[in-house]
Amino acid sequence: MSTQIITGAAGFIGSHLADALLERGDRVIGIDNFSRGSRANLALALKNARFELLTADLADANDCERLVGQLGARFSAKPGSEHISQLWHLAANSDIPAGVADLNVDLRDTFLSTVGSLRIARQFGIPDFFFTSTSAVYGEHEGQLTERSGPLLPISNYGAMKLASEAAISAATSAYLRRSRIFRLPNVVGARSTHGLIFDMYRKLAASPSAIEVLGDGTQCKQYLHVSELIDAALWIADHSTAPAIDCFNLGPSADAGITVRRIMEILLETAESQAVPHYSEGDRGWVGDVPHFAYSVEKLNALGWRAKGSSEDAIRRACVELRPRSAEAASL
Ligand SMILES: NC(=O)c1ccc[n+]([C@@H]2O[C@H](COP(=O)([O-])OP(=O)(O)OC[C@H]3O[C@@H](n4cnc5c(N)ncnc54)[C@H](O)[C@@H]3O)[C@@H](O)[C@H]2O)c1
Repeated sequence: MSTQIITGAAGFIGSHLADALLERGDRVIGIDNFSRGSRANLALALKNARFELLTADLADANDCERLVGQLGARFSAKPGSEHISQLWHLAANSDIPAGVADLNVDLRDTFLSTVGSLRIARQFGIPDFFFTSTSAVYGEHEGQLTERSGPLLPISNYGAMKLASEAAISAATSAYLRRSRIFRLPNVVGARSTHGLIFDMYRKLAASPSAIEVLGDGTQCKQYLHVSELIDAALWIADHSTAPAIDCFNLGPSADAGITVRRIMEILLETAESQAVPHYSEGDRGWVGDVPHFAYSVEKLNALGWRAKGSSEDAIRRACVELRPRSAEAASL
């Protein structure tokens, strides 16, 4: 039985990862500051004796010091002592517009949380470090994005601090990590989402059932992966891409150019059995820092032996059903 740390464990993706690792028989230590995550997301994990939840702000040096003391009572990098084998670093700001409005948001929660997580990895001699990065590190490019696309010129502070995190992980890998893997995620959807288009649109629909404001002109076109497929791909990479050093993978649906916001709205309104009229705003992007179009090449991931089962549209359909509020919930949104 191996012990693994997940930062951001109470969030959308982190809680699904915790469930998957526990299901495999691992022991999991979840860390979160609950700025966006919730204990409710961890309802299943918290029933498992192999799961432990620690509250800490990874961007805060004092909190990290306290965490090191807490973990240090049981774990050590010394040979023969109980050790932690993998650290999955997911804690980050997930509100991109908030990070555009205030530089400190991504500096703290997206970058300094990485520094805090690396500190824990070094302190406890954790050999493997896995990081959820994003398409936002690429900035705006024509055509398919491969892991070698560049120059990397993000247009949001979120993307910039994710890229800075990748750089810090690269330096750490040359100094003390055995292996690090950068997962560049597309948009991820599914139950327990804490943000994103489907989440936002259901909220707006509850507040205003006849008309719904949509940011941007609806032509934005991006790739989506259901959270279950994402976890499957990340675990596949962790298990099959085992060479020491740093490596980076685009994660996404196969042979898929993405789905537009207009098509997502059609599926969502159909799922909600709503007659609401969507009102689009002008311009091809929803907010400053939004990259309106991207499509990954996932050849590298496919060559490792993993291929998504569903398309972007399949992921959206599934998530629209999973996130559809029951009527009582809708009234309280
Ligand atoms: N969901 C997506 O579409 C998507 C796309 C690309 C990348 N990602 C990345 O995947 C990861 C998980 O995203 P998510 O969608 O689950 O977001 P989320 O907001 O649901 O989860 C992030 C978690 O991190 C926690 N957190 C934030 N700052 C922290 C800090 N300083 N210390 C401790 N905990 C902190 C939050 O409370 C939250 O529970 C993030 O790194 C995100 O950038 C997500």
